[in-house]
Amino acid sequence: MISKHLNEELNQQITYEFYSSHLYLAMSAKLASIDFIGAATWMRTQAEEERVHALKIVDYILETGGEVNITGFEDPDIKADNILGIFEQGLEHEKFVTDRINFLMGLATEEKNYAAINFLNWFVNEQVEEESNAETIIRSLKLIGNDGNGLYQIDKELGARTTVGITSQT
Ligand code: FEO
Repeated sequence: MISKHLNEELNQQITYEFYSSHLYLAMSAKLASIDFIGAATWMRTQAEEERVHALKIVDYILETGGEVNITGFEDPDIKADNILGIFEQGLEHEKFVTDRINFLMGLATEEKNYAAINFLNWFVNEQVEEESNAETIIRSLKLIGNDGNGLYQIDKELGARTTVGITSQT
């Protein structure tokens, strides 16, 4: 069982996860348009992972006898037109998602809902990995600067990402 309040906030989180998927798909297309094909692949994989996150929450609400409410969201807005700026915006977004997960965990803790705490723990760990992945890429991009060879190399490495994150086991 989940409370009405936690149910509503989990529904809200489904929307944020689908929004994340849209945002990263838009970023992927933007990266492809500026010829970072590997980074575009990385970002598209991230978009797919976000969809998996949303579906995990859908399944959890159903399992606990709650009510799933799928709602819409605003258009994704890509602020940067370069690879570093795009990954920086991605990290900012992940920090927002981390705050949301912490909020949900706080709510589950307040309600002494130990099953929900256990469920949300997966997301807590996932956020640590996602922020860390983005930070690592941003650090590398800052070191590389405008070096063509370096950018070529990191794009190739990012393109090696398949269905799981660099360190994530989604
Ligand atoms: Fe679903 Fe990137 O957090």
